[in-house]
Amino acid sequence: MTNVYIETYGCQMNAYDTELVQSILVDANMHIIPTVDAADVALLNTCSVRENANNKVLNRIHALKRANKTLIVGILGCMATNFKTQLLDNNRLQIDLIAGPDSYKQLPALIADAVDATHSDKPFDVTLSEFETYDTIVPNRTEGANAWLAIMRGCNNFCTFCVVPYTRGRERSRSADSIITEINDLVAKGYKQVTLLGQNVNSYRYGNDTFTDLMRRITQETAIDRIRFTSPHPKDFPDDLLDVIAANPAICKQIHVPLQAGNDRILKKMNRTYTQSEFLTLIHKMRDAIPGVALSTDIIVGFPTETYDEFLDTVRVCETVKFDHAYIFKYSERPNTRAALKFPDDVPLDEKTQRITELVKLQKKHSLHQNKRWVNTVQSILVERWDGETVIGRNDANVLVYVDAAHNRAAIGSFTNVFVTDASPHGLRARALSQ
Ligand code: SAH
Ligand code: SF4
Ligand code: F3S
Repeated sequence: MTNVYIETYGCQMNAYDTELVQSILVDANMHIIPTVDAADVALLNTCSVRENANNKVLNRIHALKRANKTLIVGILGCMATNFKTQLLDNNRLQIDLIAGPDSYKQLPALIADAVDATHSDKPFDVTLSEFETYDTIVPNRTEGANAWLAIMRGCNNFCTFCVVPYTRGRERSRSADSIITEINDLVAKGYKQVTLLGQNVNSYRYGNDTFTDLMRRITQETAIDRIRFTSPHPKDFPDDLLDVIAANPAICKQIHVPLQAGNDRILKKMNRTYTQSEFLTLIHKMRDAIPGVALSTDIIVGFPTETYDEFLDTVRVCETVKFDHAYIFKYSERPNTRAALKFPDDVPLDEKTQRITELVKLQKKHSLHQNKRWVNTVQSILVERWDGETVIGRNDANVLVYVDAAHNRAAIGSFTNVFVTDASPHGLRARALSQ
């Protein structure tokens, strides 16, 4: 029996894909193991969204091979497609097999070829599909409280900085019926939360079903307690979705809405196809339709040619919106993207560092401000972890809540009501309420 160990890098989509891969390998009679020590095969499910993500994986390949020369090392995920044959040609890297995000059904065969000593060519398949949605595969889910569920794959937006349309190919959606069947199975297994995944969930379309229709159907046809989704694109956020979110207690009042930049010239160069004012109008609409909605975002600082004054437009948007949470990144040039081909990476690294430091400091202030909204309220949290002393879960707004309750172990994957006593930029402190 082949022992396979898998490491996952990158976004939630990769976390979900690892669960799909596990399911495919288990069906092929392979054994998934939690550490690399007894592994015959180590698979790295990789990310190439920024250069440091790439470097981390390259270092890891060297370390794995140095520790065990006979270990078969395979590359899955976004680096697989992007690097294609380069990885195999480079002998120093010693990669034994590659499978891109649409080739996971081939993995048992690719692994068998790699294990077979008589097979001289290194096996790989990085073909991108216009159809593969893995809708017949039930992932081997490992998390206790939340279930990831990809409703669509790929991206057609081609933001100029982004490698994802190249690594994951064209957009395609999975049927609403199959999604609903899977969520009903999740409910039967005791899952309380589902997070719908897609590079741009607004583009979801299957037959006549739009993303709004899908969300409405999930609330009507399943009994899942909490529904989250990530990510929508600000350029085409559907108005009717706001009404569906507002009207349904099961849909969390929390939206991730990636800003990327606040300056119109930079937004245009990024090919984001909205302006600062259109973004702010959307935020107002969200807050009008869903009072108290928690908002998070993604921001890139130091995109090519961004001046400090233009960066200040991003700061101004953040000051206006006061996001509950923000993921902030330094621009990282990705080979073959439109930005890499057309715009030299000309903002110096120390300038990017200064901008990110400034924005992170501001964001901390805003996160604290928003998190204080929950102090002295009762919150229902979905428990994710228990570290022996503290119960850790999230409220509806997706804020981490730390509950001092050493004596009172709440079951992972269950809801518990707590009283919030304190807030920090990173989360909330609370005490357990007697049940
Ligand atoms: N599809 C998702 C984003 C996927 S990548 C969406 O559109 O929301 C996650 C985040 O990584 C992006 O939102 C962006 O902020 C960041 N990112 C992508 N490419 C980048 C690059 N070249 N340099 C720095 N950050 C990048
Ligand atoms: Fe990348 Fe833009 Fe697509 Fe998101 S929407 S995956 S940032 S190209
Ligand atoms: Fe995700 Fe990284 Fe790919 S962010 S889509 S794993 S490039």
